[in-house]
Amino acid sequence: MKYKTDKHSFNLLAKMPRLRQVIRKNNILFYGIIIFMFTTGYIPLNFLIGKSRKLQIALHRKKDFSNLIKYEKRTLQPYFVKDDLKNVLVETKLILFYTKFFGETDRHIARSDQIFNRCPIEYRCKLTEDKSLMVKSSAVILHARDIYGGPMMGLPKERSDDQRWIYYNLESPSYMASPAWTFNGVFNWTMTYKLESDIPIPYGHMEETVDHTIQKPKLDTKFKLAFWRVSNCETLSLREKFVEDLQNYIPVDIYGQCGDLKCEINDSSLCDEFFSKHYKFYIAFENSLCRDYITEKPWKILESMDVVPIVMGNADYTKHLPRGSYIDVRDFKTPETLARHLIWLDQNDEAYLKHFSWRSHSIATMNDYPSWCKLCEMLHNRSLPRQVYNNLGDWFKPESDCITPRQFLPSWT
Ligand SMILES: *[C@@H]1O[C@H](CO)[C@@H](O)[C@H](O)[C@H]1NC(C)=O
Ligand SMILES: *[C@@H]1O[C@H](CO)[C@@H](O)[C@H](O)[C@H]1NC(C)=O
Ligand SMILES: *[C@@H]1O[C@H](CO)[C@@H](O)[C@H](O)[C@H]1NC(C)=O
Repeated sequence: MKYKTDKHSFNLLAKMPRLRQVIRKNNILFYGIIIFMFTTGYIPLNFLIGKSRKLQIALHRKKDFSNLIKYEKRTLQPYFVKDDLKNVLVETKLILFYTKFFGETDRHIARSDQIFNRCPIEYRCKLTEDKSLMVKSSAVILHARDIYGGPMMGLPKERSDDQRWIYYNLESPSYMASPAWTFNGVFNWTMTYKLESDIPIPYGHMEETVDHTIQKPKLDTKFKLAFWRVSNCETLSLREKFVEDLQNYIPVDIYGQCGDLKCEINDSSLCDEFFSKHYKFYIAFENSLCRDYITEKPWKILESMDVVPIVMGNADYTKHLPRGSYIDVRDFKTPETLARHLIWLDQNDEAYLKHFSWRSHSIATMNDYPSWCKLCEMLHNRSLPRQVYNNLGDWFKPESDCITPRQFLPSWT
């Protein structure tokens, strides 16, 4: 499909502050660009934007910008055809990922270009782990789990005043190596799963789809009811106890370290295929009951499997997942009533299949690029005020964010 790019591209270019700045401040570079554009076949007319409104309109009518900017097919996101051109037009903000990510290089470093190419075209960022770029970096990310050694240890020594230091944390305050209070007064922005973070980074998000054909799961191979894949056997949410109670009424197959079943297939994607083909429900219970804390468990299921997740977590799931795509234990008073509902769904195909109708308008994805784009956009926004979290400990602690199983489901415990 080819999109008419003309007007939209024109507006985009006209909006770019960097472009205007370059033209104003640096004539040599400006002429350089013109020569560059002649030699590469671009017509330099685009760069007169901002000089003359009449000229703009005249040019706009004549010139098609499709050789400069193209649009991604699925999302209709604009992107520059030539990367070197974008480098000149848009200022790149560096984001230094200072710590490791669970002991390893963060996977986003390698995906940096891939992520930021999906952001609005006016914003450009680059993720790096090269500490020699500390001074040049607009933001420094520290992953909570990977800062060791007690209060104020393991932090970078130097700091420029304009830099934003970011508290990056995807784990619940109930399970943390270093409590957040040890970083009071250190961070300017928060980037966590909590919705009220400066940059919320949930484990997944929904996207609208243009493809409205629903792929309904095949039921003839689904001869098993519920499964659970789990490696953390004793948790604060007491999910293991809930599953045990559930097992009094229905079979729940437990795979991994806390159960006696193993998926013997070598390739883990084939295991997923196996689960998807044979099971109807997945136990997607969180290990702790903390506000907004929904991990990859339901997301992975909705992204790629023909299974309905059963969720347990102290989050408003309606804010995250499509209605009907999951079953919430809080809608049932006890494991027994939940079990009875699952048995009923098992016998009523039509009702069971209704849990997949959200697929006609959206897809679930664990790609977190929208959060990185938000960060990038914020780094380009000069009017955002300075800020410091002098009391990060109060913002991120189990006492205010997490509840006990008794508070969560009084009728059960
Ligand atoms: C599983 O995969 C590994 C590495 O790919 C291979 O060495 C091993 O033989 C495989 N095992 C089985 C049972 O297929
Ligand atoms: C920059 O931040 C300010 C203050 O939050 C906001 O009002 C404005 O819309 C932002 N600008 C852009 C371009 O996002
Ligand atoms: C970030 O926080 C530090 C204090 O820890 C502060 O000195 C600095 O001004 C803040 N920077 C911004 C841009 O908010």
